[in-house]
Amino acid sequence: EKGGWSSFMAKEISEEPEAIAKTILGRVSDGLVHVPELDALGDDVLRGIDRVLIIACGTAAYAGLVGKYAIEQWARVPVDVELAHEFRYRDPVLSTSTLVISVSQSGETMDTLMAVKFAREAGARTLSICNTQGATIPRESDAVIYTHAGPEVAVASTKAFVAQITAMYLFGLQLAQARATLDDETVRGLVAELQEVPEKLTKVLEVGDRIRELAHWMADTRSVLFLGRHVGYPVALEGALKLKELAYIHAEGFAAGELKHGPIALIEPGQVVFVIVPSPRDERSLHAKVVSNIQEIRARGARVIAIAEEGDVAVLPHADEVIRIPLASPFFEPLLAVVPLHIFGMELAAAKGLDVDQPRNLAKSVTVE
Ligand code: M6R
Repeated sequence: EKGGWSSFMAKEISEEPEAIAKTILGRVSDGLVHVPELDALGDDVLRGIDRVLIIACGTAAYAGLVGKYAIEQWARVPVDVELAHEFRYRDPVLSTSTLVISVSQSGETMDTLMAVKFAREAGARTLSICNTQGATIPRESDAVIYTHAGPEVAVASTKAFVAQITAMYLFGLQLAQARATLDDETVRGLVAELQEVPEKLTKVLEVGDRIRELAHWMADTRSVLFLGRHVGYPVALEGALKLKELAYIHAEGFAAGELKHGPIALIEPGQVVFVIVPSPRDERSLHAKVVSNIQEIRARGARVIAIAEEGDVAVLPHADEVIRIPLASPFFEPLLAVVPLHIFGMELAAAKGLDVDQPRNLAKSVTVE
């Protein structure tokens, strides 16, 4: 039931902090990660993996992309992300030391299911990240990490997305522990930060009214671009997908570094561009690079809406609007930065008088290939 909310989507966005908290619950012990369901694979298997392949569709694939960055950095295993339907119909190289992780809210997506079956038959180990107890994909997999986002009714995935990312982080940290690629103190620090995310996210939800205003003045906008780098890149892709499916407007997400390799040609006066700005505290100097991207597009007349950390003043002279997110380590920024984009997609659709929960031509679970 909607419980007083205007739509299931509004209710489910409000549940994003809880979805993260519940997905962590019962999986941390003495400050370290222990996901009991991973016992089905065993530490020996985790240690023996030499490659991870993440397969999924749509929003779940973007969660997978965030997972790639985290798992590679923490557990030092090569990770690729592939759309399930592309993976299934080429001739991929798999072995018994490949772990194929499927990500699916419904656990019934046919493209993903076929890819999992194929991977199993080819001898790979299979792990499912799924939000629906007893669904087909987890039943077809060697092990499952359930996300505990609760039932998601709106066609546009929101709380399941942040829960999927959380499950990816838990997996990445447990893998790092098993492979001793991170020391316990580092893991404890990361786990403690992850546990703080739900509370920070509750603060982010307060931007709802401001975003509703933005959406109202943008109701006639025909195209919106999203830029991000590192784990902000999948967030950009997710922001764009939400606008397509909910508000039926053309939207593209780009890796900000690609801008000068083509997309900057799209920038003309009035073009709305959302930019997910990495933290200025990030030691890889990505912040400076993204701020310089903002300057480049602003100089060509773009309207820039920046999603930036509290206290980041460097963006102020260059952005038309700044949406603030609380301070967090780079890996936890996507969980905070994506929620304003979920709200934006919903509000823009509502401003256009569209059905937020049931967009045209779409089904909640795509059970045909
Ligand atoms: O149930 P699944 O997670 O397997 O669904 C995958 C996609 O169909 C799904 O995420 C879709 O892209 C959403 N409508 C996005 O909001």
